[in-house]
Order: sequence, then structure tokens, then C-alpha cells
Amino acid sequence: MTKTLTVVDHPLIEHKLTLMREKTASTASFRRLLREISMLLAYEVLRDLKMETVEIETPVAPMQARQIQGKKVCFVSVLRAGDGLLQGLLDLVPVARVGHIGLYRDPKTLQPVSYYNKLPDNMGERTTVVVDPMLATGGSAAAAVSEVKKAGAKDVRFLALVSAPEGYETFHAAHPDVPVYTAAMDERLNEKGYIVPGLGDAGDRLFGTK
Ligand code: PRP
Ligand code: URA
Repeated sequence: MTKTLTVVDHPLIEHKLTLMREKTASTASFRRLLREISMLLAYEVLRDLKMETVEIETPVAPMQARQIQGKKVCFVSVLRAGDGLLQGLLDLVPVARVGHIGLYRDPKTLQPVSYYNKLPDNMGERTTVVVDPMLATGGSAAAAVSEVKKAGAKDVRFLALVSAPEGYETFHAAHPDVPVYTAAMDERLNEKGYIVPGLGDAGDRLFGTK
């Protein structure tokens, strides 16, 4: 059975996340920290990429060297807040393809509402990482991954910064084949569907809209 939940624990990630959670963190530092953490999370989420051996020549000698096999990785950002994770991922994998899925959570029903979808071609041949800082009720994550699968993606992972146990359970029930990577599994959701203790509204904090 594939392991489907990885809480990526590293002192740098924990420290930076603490700085982000602090309600006095400025928009600029929230944004910078999210970009930095996303690079650290990328190591773990891409750890099992398939490799191949190629023949190269160093200035000293020929050698059999290793490189990543297959079509370029695809990162899919769940708008808006996914874009905050995207930058760091692209710093690390500049050749990656990028898709966007626009979803917002209806504040009353907490159900995801879809408003945009643009994905690269050949999704069936790419490792796809769907990214969103918050896995709260799990509705947005499950809907985004459904759209990616509909486009043909088979090797799919979901990357969140902060998750709630309820959200992970809902997501896992909908997509048992999709591993979830997160920097923190928090305590619970509150009555408004916010993660407790969480970090508030990720999109608003990232873009300074509140
Ligand atoms: C936030 C977050 C996720 C969603 C998580 O986005 O970025 O997409 O909520 O909640 P869920 O797990 O309960 O679905 P939001 O809907 O606030 O949209 P925004 O990024 O446009 O602000
Ligand atoms: N969306 C957010 O941005 N934060 C939460 O805590 C829950 C959903």
C-alpha cells in the first residue's frame, strides 16, 4: 500500500512556518517565506522521480550519469494561493510546465466553485504536483485533482503547506491513489471552515487583500 500522507518535518520548514503563522507577519515576508518553504517541500515531493542513465563526457573522462527521465514535470497551481508555492517550485525546476485551476470556496456552503482551467498537454505522461497552501475541508483539493485526472494525469501528488485532519480524510476518500505532502497537520477546522491554529486566509495574506 502506497504511503499517502507525508508530513515533511525539517527544522527550516518548521521555523519558517512559525514566522508565517504569526499574525503580524507582513505581506512581503509571508510571500518570501512561502517561496522559501516551497523549495524545501519540493525536495520531498519529487524524491521518487524516475531516473535514467545517459552517457556524458566531463572535461576529464566519459561517464554514465543520471538524469530525470521522461516528460517535464507539471506543477498545477490552485488559484489564487497556489501561486505562492509555485514560485519556489519553479526556482528549483525551471523547465517545469505549469497549469492553473481557478477555484474559490463559497463562504456559506464551503463548496469549491470552479472558474478557470488551463493545463499543459500530455498530462498522462507527466508527474503532476497540484499545489495549494491550505487543505482545509479538502473540497478544493479534491476538485482540483479531479480536473487534473480528467485531463489524463495519472501520476499525481498534492502539496499543501498546512492541512486539517478532516480535509486530509475527505481528500483521501476521494483520491486514495494521490499522495499528500504537507508541512503541518494542524488540530482541526473551526465553524467557518478555517484551519486551527492555521495561518488565516492564505490568499489574503499572500496578496494583501485584507
Ligand atoms: C483557500 C485555499 C484553498 C481553499 C481550501 O482558497 O487556498 O484553495 O481555501 O479550503 P478547502 O480545503 O475547504 O476547500 P479560497 O477558496 O479562499 O480562494 P482564494 O485562494 O482565491 O482566496
Ligand atoms: N482557506 C484558507 O486560506 N485558510 C484556511 O484556514 C481555510 C481555508
